[in-house]
Amino acid sequence: MRPNFLHHLHPPTIPAEQARWRYTLGAGGIAIFLVLVLILTGILEMFYYIPTPAEAALSVQIISYSVPFGALVRNLHYWAGQLLLVVSGLHLLRVVLTGAYARPRRFNYLLGLALFVLIILLDFTGYILRWDQGIQWALVVGTNLVKSIPWVGDSLYQMLVGGTQPGAAALIRFYTWHIFGLMLLAGILTIWHAFRVRRDGGIAVPPPPLRTSTERITRFELLRREVTAMLLTGAGLLLLSLLLPAPIAPAITEITALSGDTHAPWFFLWVQQMLKWGDPFLLGVLVPLLVLLILALIPYLLTAPRQAELGRWFPKANRLAQVILVVITLLVTLFMLLALGPVIQ
Ligand code: HEM
Repeated sequence: MRPNFLHHLHPPTIPAEQARWRYTLGAGGIAIFLVLVLILTGILEMFYYIPTPAEAALSVQIISYSVPFGALVRNLHYWAGQLLLVVSGLHLLRVVLTGAYARPRRFNYLLGLALFVLIILLDFTGYILRWDQGIQWALVVGTNLVKSIPWVGDSLYQMLVGGTQPGAAALIRFYTWHIFGLMLLAGILTIWHAFRVRRDGGIAVPPPPLRTSTERITRFELLRREVTAMLLTGAGLLLLSLLLPAPIAPAITEITALSGDTHAPWFFLWVQQMLKWGDPFLLGVLVPLLVLLILALIPYLLTAPRQAELGRWFPKANRLAQVILVVITLLVTLFMLLALGPVIQ
């Protein structure tokens, strides 16, 4: 049989060390599964969703309350989107806390980081598509952040929103980015990223002379573990979707940042909190970009783990990278909780 892309991702045997749950958490594979669920359920939603300000929120209500299995499909799409963000965040944590980003995997780490940004943008544009009162803060404050960029802010705002304030042009642009532009980029990067894992020699473990175990597993065993992860994730996702419906609110009547639910989507709550403390350009644009830059530079500026240390958590040689990531994660979580305070009350 001629080897195909799936054979490339699943060679006849791989070192057992590369496929340990407690090392990889299965997070990369679970992320791929969630991407597939998102594509399938997203295509189904496209049959009913209408991207105009007058009908968007109404069409979401029709999907949720009238279309057979519409609520299930929408809930699956919503929860797969949230889980994908959490799972790729965990995957990013594991890659840094195990030092797996070290040469020759530096480029693939950047591909992964680009994917992470694309997933945040996909979640954000999808959230805007609801076009109900719940999304107004994100729509108004989020797009105004673009305006705060010196010199090019106004032109960028025009390109993003298609006018002087969000309306029909903005909605169709967010829709096109969501279902086509961002999706296409994310699809290409996901395939490239998975392909690079193999090209870089599989999951990071010590080279053969330094390995403690010579055990290998077959591609069927690898596939069995992947299918197990998918079934468990699929069951969890189904349960979430049956028990907790995706948010829904009345349609927007007049666009204002202050009516309805006045908070950002959960993954931008940390930015919303920082905006309370000062300049929108500094805190809403520069600080998030700086965080991204720090993450991107980790493999290039900081000491990598030694070869023998690969394949396990918390190697000694890259402690600084671990500390940086843990501090960033703790601060982002703290700011999210602070922003949530008034919402919970
Ligand atoms: C949709 C998002 C992503 C998908 C679908 C994905 C998929 C995968 C898969 C299937 C693997 C191999 C299995 C595993 O390690 O669990 C992998 C490994 C890897 N990923 Fe990702 N990934 C994503 C995001 C990221 C992010 C955010 C980063 C870091 C910035 C990243 C960096 C890496 C690196 C460096 C490896 C090689 C790890 C090693 O050799 O131990 N990926 N990814």
